[in-house]
Amino acid sequence: MDDYFEIEGLAGKKLLSGEVEISGAKNAVLPLLAAGVLFDGKVSLENAPIINDTRRMLELLSALGAKTEFDEFAGVASVNCASLDSHSLDVEISKRLRASIILSGPILGRYGEVEFPHPGGCVIGERPIDIFVECFSKMGARAEERDGIYRLECSEGLKGTEVFMRIQSVTATETLMMAAALAKGETNLKNCAMEPEVAALAGFLRQSGVEIEGAGTPTIKVKGRAGRLLSPRGRAKIIPDRIEAGSFIILGALCADELVVKNCVPAHLEAVTSLLAAAGVPLDIGQDFIRLSGNGRTANSVFKNFNVRTHEYPGFPTDLQAPMAVFLTQASGEGLIFETIFEGRLGYTEDLIKMGAGIKIWDAHRASVKGPTPLNGRLLEGPDIRAGLALVIAALAAEGRSQITNVRYLDRGYERIDEKLRSLGALIERKTLTRSKDSALIF
Ligand code: EPU
Repeated sequence: MDDYFEIEGLAGKKLLSGEVEISGAKNAVLPLLAAGVLFDGKVSLENAPIINDTRRMLELLSALGAKTEFDEFAGVASVNCASLDSHSLDVEISKRLRASIILSGPILGRYGEVEFPHPGGCVIGERPIDIFVECFSKMGARAEERDGIYRLECSEGLKGTEVFMRIQSVTATETLMMAAALAKGETNLKNCAMEPEVAALAGFLRQSGVEIEGAGTPTIKVKGRAGRLLSPRGRAKIIPDRIEAGSFIILGALCADELVVKNCVPAHLEAVTSLLAAAGVPLDIGQDFIRLSGNGRTANSVFKNFNVRTHEYPGFPTDLQAPMAVFLTQASGEGLIFETIFEGRLGYTEDLIKMGAGIKIWDAHRASVKGPTPLNGRLLEGPDIRAGLALVIAALAAEGRSQITNVRYLDRGYERIDEKLRSLGALIERKTLTRSKDSALIF
């Protein structure tokens, strides 16, 4: 049994209004929790998003022998790895969470060995882990893979060295930063990802005593502590989720008259807001908020189209590619979507086409979107976390009723998303799906 959302569309009218508070970032809380393995005591994280991925990461840590707590009322997640008793990641949980791979760095750094399965998570492309394995090998680890389980070992401890990552990878950069923190000698990481979540992890490590510099640039230097664990120094606060914030702004552009997206970092969203502003979306950008005002006076067809090319930060985030495609269905003219990071991230366009969108798919990476076209509500299958929210936005912009299945993906990444949408006036209900004996869905 799974939940689904039933949504009554606004038929292109901009009737939503209000304020929405952005939660802590999923992709920031996961590496900071994994960093708990580097410590000899309890690490507490404030503004932790109350989502299933946070819970899964805590379960993974708990299965390793850590003491974990999640005060969901206060939004504080804590992990104490003083008495870890395993270096093997739980296979079932790891297969559901790509971010499980991040734990490999701190565990290998601390114990000189780690075992884990190929990590799972959203099916948005091949998602190999070759860069992790190559870079660990450069730092002195021996790697083998048998029956889908990777085993890395370096009984004499990881050695700091120069490591060039062939591809800028967010989780590989985070994982290697943590491995380097416990290595012997200095590690020079090159071609690093520059995402705000990488910089947030580096900030946390620095605040905790690691000599680390350069995060947010392509080169990060880490002075290794030769196995010496860190001691907690106060609480860290998780940065706001730029993907949730960006999604609400796109939703607002299509469906809201007045909307304030609060508790966000607009500087993390320039690639998104600059496109929307050039398209004619009336945005007012503050220090920690983005306001949309008088948007009801702008007919959707007035919005101009643009091309979207996903790119590593500070370029346009792949995680907002699907919501932006929905925006383009309501802008005038033709815009090209070019997904450069993942090769399986345009699948949701089939659903948009069924709703009436003028989309042509050229190949696994490119689609063009011609607008504006009215969308019609229908049964939609949420394919992954980010495209799932894009379909919610499409359903709200559409005429008629939609059902969106696989809400479990949305629950992995967005805190109380249906409640937040309802507070803006959206007609969205969470319902439970049952199946008949022949597996047909019963709504
Ligand atoms: N890649 C390799 N080999 C590797 C690692 C990555 O070829 O060993 C490739 C990937 O296949 C991809 C590219 O490198 O083509 C970049 O992927 P990256 O490794 O940066 O992605 P990730 O670290 O697995 C994180 C986010 C994703 C987000 C991407 C890109 C986390 C937990 N996940 O994934 O977020 O899309 O960076 O920004 O931080 C999501 O939140 O829904 C999500 C998918």
